[in-house]
Amino acid sequence: MAKNGKKIGVFDSGLGGLYIARAVRNALPQYDYVYLGDTLNVPYGGRSMEAIYNLSRAAIQYLFEEHECDLVIIGCNTASVTALRKLQQEFLPENYPDRRILGVIVPTLESATELGATQIGLIATEYTVRSKIYDEEIVKITPRAQIYGQPTPLLVPLIENNGEKYMDEVLGDYLEPLIEQGLDSLILGCTHYISIKDKVRELTKHRVRVLSQDEIIPPKLKDYLMRHPEIETRLTKDGTFQCYATDVNPSYIRNVEKLMGPDMPISQATYDFS
Ligand code: DGL
Repeated sequence: MAKNGKKIGVFDSGLGGLYIARAVRNALPQYDYVYLGDTLNVPYGGRSMEAIYNLSRAAIQYLFEEHECDLVIIGCNTASVTALRKLQQEFLPENYPDRRILGVIVPTLESATELGATQIGLIATEYTVRSKIYDEEIVKITPRAQIYGQPTPLLVPLIENNGEKYMDEVLGDYLEPLIEQGLDSLILGCTHYISIKDKVRELTKHRVRVLSQDEIIPPKLKDYLMRHPEIETRLTKDGTFQCYATDVNPSYIRNVEKLMGPDMPISQATYDFS
């Protein structure tokens, strides 16, 4: 077993979680971060539950063992809804009782309700909407609130393949019936959608509050670390940021450069996926 870790890991199926990692680093620059994108296995959205769990567990184990991460944030909604509970309830206590894994679903819903949301729309991958985890978790926070889920499967391919010119039409079709339900808020429940949050705000004409996880997770993490000094004091504070991917391909390199600037090296992450 590896010695106690010291860094904050952020994991996503691909690129999207880098928006969250970047926002967290900007808000809390003192800590050391390791970002891992499982670019070899993206997208997770169409996979079986077992496959998503195994891929998530392997990625987290890699961050724990190879990078001394004490805390890992699963940036991916699809992995959060599928794997987080089992990872927290079985994998951690059995293998790494002192470490922590956090997801994005509960902080997002807490944030929504703190802002007074009760009629909450959710756009996300088919998998995330169908899992009903957002619906289950909101009831625990405030039974008054309701989730209106809309799977938006065309958005990830459009975002990944420079389909901006089709975006207004596709988004408009997805959003119109949702907005008609009388929503007060709309959750962007997929890390990819952070890149189109301005477009969604424009199309909804600011009639609903658009909740984007890059704006939600940094203050929630800050609050978590304040409430958990046993974790916070173990974290190293050299202000480093390292970026890893399971497949360092040209499109990933291009996108990382766009997001993080040209000086961000990307290293190959090699580990067993089974
Ligand atoms: N990053 C995933 C999420 O937040 C979407 C992409 C995928 O299917 O892997 O749901």
